[in-house]
Amino acid sequence: MGKLRPGKVEWLALGHTGRPTLRPLQNLLLLWTLLNCGLGGSAQGPGEWTPWGSWSRCSSSCGRGLSVRSRRCFWFPGGEPCWGDSHEYRLCPLPDCPLGAIPFRDLQCALYNGHPVLGTQKTYQWVPFYGAPNQCDLNCLAEGHAFYHSFGRVLDGTPCSPGTQGLCVAGRCLSAGCDGLLGSDAREDHCGRCGGTNESCLLVQRVFRDSGAFAGYWNVTLIPEGARHIRVAHRSRNHLALIGGDGRYVLNGNWAVSPPGTYEAAGTRVVYTRAAGPEETLSAAGPTSQDLLLQVLLQEPNPGIAFEFWLPRERYGPFQAQAQAVGWFLRQQQPREVEPQAPELPAAPAPSAPRTPTPAPDPCGRCPDTRGRAHRLLYYCRGDFVFRARVLSRLHQGQETRYEVQVQLIYKNRSPLRALEYVWALGRCPCPRLDLHREYLLAVQRLISPDGTQDRLLLPHMGYARAWSPAEDSRVRLAARHCPV
Ligand SMILES: *[C@@H]1O[C@H](CO)[C@@H](O)[C@H](O)[C@H]1NC(C)=O
Ligand SMILES: *[C@@H]1O[C@H](CO)[C@@H](O)[C@H](O)[C@H]1NC(C)=O
Repeated sequence: MGKLRPGKVEWLALGHTGRPTLRPLQNLLLLWTLLNCGLGGSAQGPGEWTPWGSWSRCSSSCGRGLSVRSRRCFWFPGGEPCWGDSHEYRLCPLPDCPLGAIPFRDLQCALYNGHPVLGTQKTYQWVPFYGAPNQCDLNCLAEGHAFYHSFGRVLDGTPCSPGTQGLCVAGRCLSAGCDGLLGSDAREDHCGRCGGTNESCLLVQRVFRDSGAFAGYWNVTLIPEGARHIRVAHRSRNHLALIGGDGRYVLNGNWAVSPPGTYEAAGTRVVYTRAAGPEETLSAAGPTSQDLLLQVLLQEPNPGIAFEFWLPRERYGPFQAQAQAVGWFLRQQQPREVEPQAPELPAAPAPSAPRTPTPAPDPCGRCPDTRGRAHRLLYYCRGDFVFRARVLSRLHQGQETRYEVQVQLIYKNRSPLRALEYVWALGRCPCPRLDLHREYLLAVQRLISPDGTQDRLLLPHMGYARAWSPAEDSRVRLAARHCPV
């Protein structure tokens, strides 16, 4: 065990000084103060503080430590003393302690090693004990024995306990406010100002309601550099995507669904959650060091994406101007069509739609019913391709399912289709589900990645895929006449 270096704790013995006394020089100072403040003659009112002294050396050379400064109060006999504290303690920034350094509290307990302290001649080796009620008492355990002894207060600047931020001052555990002062209740406001009142930044809070004319990536908003307290949430099977300042996806890029978790982006940590609800959220404390672009990967109509963040005032104007130039937030008034919410539509009777008997136990569970005229119409009109096809194979790739299909009859297409195509669906248990070797009527969307390297056919979640039948065939032909132009 090392020895307590006296130099290190010297100033700590300052502790709280007693009542200040007036000395001649200070009497002069007081007189000067009173004259200058026009208080001469009035013996009432609170006393006067001297300016603060300078900060003391740090109580420690590594880890957590504190330094202290003090001031004195002068007041007239019979008057009121000063308001406020005579001492201020602040946390001093220090490098981590080297491995094996002896903690401050261990040193203080070790001071009693080998000394008879408990009224007998027996001596003990003492180590800190953290199970006692006041963590700012020097509670030390007699090594090899089942008792501890409290040797009074720990020295100021002793960490309250190993895992916490607080330091003991005058027997109390204090933690630092954002001003670095121990015991201060100053907190950062949402603009990142210590003790501020949120006046140096503005809250951007909107709901993105663009319903999306095709499946794929849609810009939701730019999140400018300097944003704080970013939160995004939506309830749908669509997926939020985020692009960093370097133009690369941070999550959910290139049609691959990223796992929930914490992602580093623009100098902050982005927490991404996805619940079975279905619900997704993004949140980040910021401030961001680069612009971020928030997108959504649409596979079903967008029910609304709520987002908010705080922007420094000077960034708000440019952000607003840019948003308007790009046309974001301007397209919000339209619900072009009534949100269909396919899963909640009452199941319209479809007598001739053949029910598929499930051949084997299905690990994916049943898909919700998506029959009905409104559903067919929606996906027919939105789909880039509608065709009849036979399913040849099925493959799970990561978070996606890929069907190979043989195209047999095309009802609608935006570009040529080949005889054999891949149709993708998100998830390992997509809905609707396609059985092998069966024929379906499918409405699919074309997805092209922004860099043009990927071109895919996507069967949207809860989209249109029905077993082929002559009756369904004529309904689909009918649907073609009812699409809005
Ligand atoms: C700043 O705004 C946040 C969020 O609205 C609020 O919780 C907080 O109390 C505000 N802070 C101050 C100092 O007004
Ligand atoms: C989305 O926003 C980015 C950045 O402003 C822009 O480059 C891109 O063209 C936008 N994409 C769409 C589809 O509007």
